[in-house]
Amino acid sequence: MPPTLTISDIHSLKRNEALEILAQISRVEKKTFPTNEAFGFGEELWRKKPNTRVLYATQPKEGGRSELIAYAVYVRQKGVALLHKVCVIEAYRRQGVGQQLMSYIQERLRKEGCQYIQLWVDKVREPARALYQRGGFKEQEEIPDYYAPGRTGIRMILDLDRDQ
Ligand SMILES: CC(C)(COP(=O)(O)OP(=O)(O)OC[C@H]1O[C@@H](n2cnc3c(N)ncnc32)[C@H](O)[C@@H]1OP(=O)(O)O)[C@@H](O)C(=O)NCCC(=O)NCCS
Repeated sequence: MPPTLTISDIHSLKRNEALEILAQISRVEKKTFPTNEAFGFGEELWRKKPNTRVLYATQPKEGGRSELIAYAVYVRQKGVALLHKVCVIEAYRRQGVGQQLMSYIQERLRKEGCQYIQLWVDKVREPARALYQRGGFKEQEEIPDYYAPGRTGIRMILDLDRDQ
């Protein structure tokens, strides 16, 4: 059974709640990605970046609190959304969380009138490539040394109009 997720946007939170979630995300981000690829999850993301969206997924925990399970970041540029990050906490991987989060993002962007989602993924990140392919993303081009010497980047696109 996949975990029961609540997916929200940090922009719907009050400042203190948003900062708490951003701090939790930041800790996971530092553990998951190399320093040069770790996204800075600072307060400005909540305050003054309306076209940058930070989504997070939680599940209820004992004592009425909730636990961070996954997060994603995208930037809207007119009809295109650039999906910068998708991450599921290690203990919750391979349980359908990534897929639920991707479906939520696709549905939300489609409703908002976005036409394409674009992303770059490291060629060696097989789980992420498989997740995106499953969601209908198509690989468009490969750029050697995109992330660092010897690390190839793959550009992928999902056409939201076509892949309904
Ligand atoms: C990529 C990532 C988000 C996938 O999240 P997840 O919750 O484990 O994915 P799901 O359980 O929803 O899997 C959905 C599909 O993706 C593919 N997939 C996910 N993990 C996989 C793996 N380890 N190996 C192969 N395919 C995988 C499968 O097709 C899977 O469907 P299936 O389980 O029915 O076979 C997660 O592995 C992660 O956070 N990785 C580290 C961060 C990262 O690399 N992010 C992407 C770049 S920003």
